[in-house]
Amino acid sequence: MMAHVPVLFNEVMEYIKPSPGKLIVDGTLGRAGHTQGFLERGAKVVGFDQDLAAISSVAASFNLCKKNENPLIYQSENLIIVHNNFTEMASSLSLLGIRKIDGVFFDLGVSSPQFDDAKRGFSYRLDAPLDMRMNQKQGLSAWDIVNTYSEQELEKIIKDYGEERYYRRVATKIVNNRPIDTTLQLVEVIKKAMPRAAKEEQHPAKRTFQALRIAVNDELGSLKKGLNDAITFLQPQGRIGVIAFHSLEDRIVKEFFREQVDPCICPKNLPVCICGKEATLKIVTKKPVKPQADEIDINRRAHSACLRIAEKLVTKEVGK
Ligand SMILES: C[S@@+](CC[C@H](N)C(=O)[O-])C[C@H]1O[C@@H](n2cnc3c(N)ncnc32)[C@H](O)[C@@H]1O
Repeated sequence: MMAHVPVLFNEVMEYIKPSPGKLIVDGTLGRAGHTQGFLERGAKVVGFDQDLAAISSVAASFNLCKKNENPLIYQSENLIIVHNNFTEMASSLSLLGIRKIDGVFFDLGVSSPQFDDAKRGFSYRLDAPLDMRMNQKQGLSAWDIVNTYSEQELEKIIKDYGEERYYRRVATKIVNNRPIDTTLQLVEVIKKAMPRAAKEEQHPAKRTFQALRIAVNDELGSLKKGLNDAITFLQPQGRIGVIAFHSLEDRIVKEFFREQVDPCICPKNLPVCICGKEATLKIVTKKPVKPQADEIDINRRAHSACLRIAEKLVTKEVGK
């Protein structure tokens, strides 16, 4: 099954190097496009997705059998999929008796089916209840944030996660127009808050919707934890790859890789390192890998993708 064209597919295969005998974790299964590539190259895969719709659809396409109820796990000989946040990778892999993996990959953010399914509430172009939860079992939704958070909390979310210049005006308009129940109602409120010039640059609700989505799903907090957990499972020479779609995510990946390459926490004025921390990763892609023009022509959503790859070093502990 090749359900769609996964972003940076060839590049991911080239750098993650799936092959027979390897076990790869796909932290963001989605429609299993990258996972399919790993499987076709002979690797085994454990895939995570917090969206039940994604898990159910992949389980059906690959004819998987249910193995566990909580967390929900389906499996075949080469593929195991887990309905869980990738922040729960450690407990889920332990449950599966897995201690080491040969590669781990994250293709962050929302999938096309999530965007295109109006009722999920991710799109500022489709009318729907304000939801934006990737995990439908989660309590907090975009409605809760929009209708119950203080003006200051809204300002912070819209500024930090949306990098919206007019965060104050948008937060004030939201608070003054409550209750706001649907995506298109929110779009109208945001439009009223924006100056004319800003409305012409890009869709006026784009940044605020991104901010709400990140807050609802704690996307940045999950990424930090997911990266940390993932490298503890990686074998020496195993690779970690991350596709980010905006600068906030990419900055976290870049800084995380940098900290693992140079983990020293000694004060800068010390002539020698005394903290004893060891490097755990080396960077494979000195510059982020971006899609070629022909990929963007076929898939507009790929245009902001940015792939970074690092490799686990052989540490003293592993090598002794
Ligand atoms: C961009 S799509 C992945 C597409 C996939 N690579 C493919 O080829 O079909 C991202 C997927 O990751 C899931 N996701 C995002 N953050 C997650 C997290 N913290 N834990 C588990 N799944 C997550 C989303 O629900 C979505 O299905």
